[in-house]
Amino acid sequence: MKVVVAFLALYVTIALGVKEELFKKCHENGFCHRNRHYGSHILEAHDWPYRINSTSLKTSAETSHIWLEILKTISHDKEIVLDLQLSLLNDDNLRVQVNERRSNDLKGVGSLTTHRFNGTGNWVLVDSVTEGKFKSIDASLKEKLGLKYGKYHSAELTYYPLTLKVYYKNQLQMTVNDKKFFNLEHYRTMEDNDMNMLPFELDFDMFKDSFKDSSKDTIPFGPESIGLDFTFNGYQHVYGIPEHADSLSLRDTTNSEPYRLFNIDLFEYEVGSTMPMYGAIPFLLAVKPTKVASGLFWLNSGDTFVDIDKTHLKGVSTHWMSENGIIDFIILVKESPEAINKAYGELSGFTPLPQLFALGYHQCRWNYNDQEDVLQVHENMDKYQIPYDTIWLDIEYADSKKYFTWNKKTFPDPRKMMLELDRTGRNLVIIVDPHFKTGYFVSNELMKQDLCVKDNENKILKAHCWPGESVYIDSLNPKATEYLTSKYQMSSKNTFMGGDDITNVHLWNDMNEPSVFDGPETTFFKDTIHYGRWEHRSIHNMYGMSYHNATFHALTNRLAQSSRNRPFVLTRSFFAGSQRTAAMWTGDNMSKWEYLKASIPMNMNQGIAGMPFSGSDVGGFFGNPSKELLTRWYQTGIWYAFFRAHAHIDSRRREPWIAGEPYTSIIRNAIRLRYRLLPTIYTTMQRTSVEGVPFMRPLFYSYPGNLDTYEIENEFYLGNSGLLIAPVLEEGVKEIIIVLPNVKEIYYDYTNGKMSLESYYGKSQIIKQVTLEDIPMFLEGGSIITEKQRYRRSSKLMINDPYTLIIAPNHDQGKASGQLYIDDYETYDYQNGKSAMIEFEASDKGISSTLIRGEGEEFKVTNHVEKVIVLNFTKQYDAKPLKQVVVNKQQVVEFEIVHNNHLVIKMPNTPMSQNWTIEYEYVESSSLHDEL
Ligand code: NOJ
Repeated sequence: MKVVVAFLALYVTIALGVKEELFKKCHENGFCHRNRHYGSHILEAHDWPYRINSTSLKTSAETSHIWLEILKTISHDKEIVLDLQLSLLNDDNLRVQVNERRSNDLKGVGSLTTHRFNGTGNWVLVDSVTEGKFKSIDASLKEKLGLKYGKYHSAELTYYPLTLKVYYKNQLQMTVNDKKFFNLEHYRTMEDNDMNMLPFELDFDMFKDSFKDSSKDTIPFGPESIGLDFTFNGYQHVYGIPEHADSLSLRDTTNSEPYRLFNIDLFEYEVGSTMPMYGAIPFLLAVKPTKVASGLFWLNSGDTFVDIDKTHLKGVSTHWMSENGIIDFIILVKESPEAINKAYGELSGFTPLPQLFALGYHQCRWNYNDQEDVLQVHENMDKYQIPYDTIWLDIEYADSKKYFTWNKKTFPDPRKMMLELDRTGRNLVIIVDPHFKTGYFVSNELMKQDLCVKDNENKILKAHCWPGESVYIDSLNPKATEYLTSKYQMSSKNTFMGGDDITNVHLWNDMNEPSVFDGPETTFFKDTIHYGRWEHRSIHNMYGMSYHNATFHALTNRLAQSSRNRPFVLTRSFFAGSQRTAAMWTGDNMSKWEYLKASIPMNMNQGIAGMPFSGSDVGGFFGNPSKELLTRWYQTGIWYAFFRAHAHIDSRRREPWIAGEPYTSIIRNAIRLRYRLLPTIYTTMQRTSVEGVPFMRPLFYSYPGNLDTYEIENEFYLGNSGLLIAPVLEEGVKEIIIVLPNVKEIYYDYTNGKMSLESYYGKSQIIKQVTLEDIPMFLEGGSIITEKQRYRRSSKLMINDPYTLIIAPNHDQGKASGQLYIDDYETYDYQNGKSAMIEFEASDKGISSTLIRGEGEEFKVTNHVEKVIVLNFTKQYDAKPLKQVVVNKQQVVEFEIVHNNHLVIKMPNTPMSQNWTIEYEYVESSSLHDEL
């Protein structure tokens, strides 16, 4: 009990920072310490223990699979056999799996499943993944195997020393086991351990865990870890493997802590750290200036560490270590980082297109105290003319934190509140965590239906979280989804979801690492047991995903019959594949400038690792931001894909009107800018949902040839829109330095979304003066974006509003192009073709808009275009003054030249449902001459 109280106290007071000592460092974590030790001693070894048995080669008839045996030599008379399998996914992604042959009859493991967990891939890879065929398998040499696959790929597997080299267009990209760190600790008992040790191995914590509260871990299988190194040949930068509060380009860890992937409730995390956080995606991207990029997908859901060695002469070298499971990884090599994102999405799924509201502004705090409070905030938003789409309820809405109940005193009529929000297109998100207080109907039902996680004695696990003693739903069991479906579908009025006709309520899954206040490292013991008789050790990093998947499917079932059937789920914990069913946020940050700054690389790494629907608590969760910090945070937060303000229960109220003037107006302007750009934002999200384009897109994606962009983490593009953003991230700043990544392109200053006189060409860097009002942003030459410029209370009320086009001609030819995606914003009908993609093209001759309908049912586009703005018109096309502007070859329309420079065309309510054109007629040079 003492432990619980201590944990609670930490959470609810503003403590002094992360309690690092609660979490294992590599040297305190048996398998990490052993693998690092192995790595540093194997170099001196004369004989490497692993080799391939060349006579074991087998291939499937259709050349889609290759099998070989790896022999691990323990002593002169003892060899362990491992199975190696090579296969191709979606034609040109090479998958490598290594498993141990284990008997079904292992000592001391009770009723646990005895083989190594090999199910991570099943949870992560989508059904549409296909298995490809090798183009050629060359086994003519005794010492190696040559492979050709895909259009440009080849690989060479050397039997001894065991190495795998992967080439793209005949250039070496990756060497697996370059440093000979390959290691698989085979099964042995404590008694016969000595006979199973290699000279360069260490036996630290093989059969016990000496770390503080973890010491009760029974470690029934003994040492089981796996380790392997990957050198990215010729690469200097690697990215991804979220979640860490660290730099965009991953740092060298050779003399410090490796990056750890182990989902934990890390309260008050520190920035600039490789410590694990709430989620884990074991996916790494390597980029170099030539036209190639590589990705490594390590399919393991156990505790994992990754060491990054940037001192290696051949390129960046990485060492992956996991506590157990099989060795299972996929190597992706493509022509660009975008192509890697697409391929990764085709393997693990893309973010589905959310409802438009989910891209609007979310107003949250722990807690809106009661129904009146909620409706008061809701009304104030309108009073202060601040658009918003969703208000959130944290844990206090429930009776004694018993999810699926309401505190009747504070929320006497939730249905009424939900209906009131719905009137102006607003939504409600409610939190439902995976722990359920013992002694009420939900936990009783879960126990009765055998849907609880079990302890190491196979008894229902009872541990502490917000409500006190709780059971945890075992969402690895497919029946958990059925159970949750039944809970969200309560049909009588005034129950949890307000009745089945309520369709504006969505869900938030928090504490799903899972967070356990009295557990080791704030989570379950690793020998906790799940459905399928698997140890928690094997699936830890996937538990959070299993829960939000179940929530998503339950909500899908609830909304299936409604006209707004795309569910929204926010999760704190995540894994590879989580992007298919949830958005995430970066957890409990602090109201400090460094956290604002860190939020950009954190969210960019989320996008790189295929989960771009992400955001950070605007304002910072813990503490009280200064008015300036809060303002700057809004100006940055409007660029997160998931844009939500949130605050800790002890933080002072900070809804946008509280700061007062000039802050409230500046915050209002920022939020309105987000709404104005919703057409571009929704289009960006649509591209993300089919191509995996990061929402906050790092500069090196566009310009991998420009090495100066590789470490830029205070600027980003909004997807592929051409909008470059450089928010102000420091206190009291009067000028900022901005990198313009392409010196051969023009950048139009579009600060605060306003036309300006400034544009830049031929400069790789500029210094810009800024005031508190300013959100520095630029439109890159060649792009066209769309806006809806009228203020409305919510995104739903903007649906029929007309569009404005902003055209940024490129430097060389004055050309530009862009896209606008439209659908009904709420349903899945777009999957049946009910959508439209509008393509815009512009040049010195005029503009054209072409509507491409989705294939299938027709989607009716009801909007008009009301205005077209061409930036730098007179400068770009200066030789020829404009005489008149003709729409659709027949109608001469009004135009204006603003700032002596930009062309503003007032469109005659031109419907977007048809193709349209604008033509410029210039004053002929001869008549110009006459006039002069
Ligand atoms: C922890 C979450 O990170 C935070 O956002 C939330 O407010 C609290 N749990 C209370 O539910």
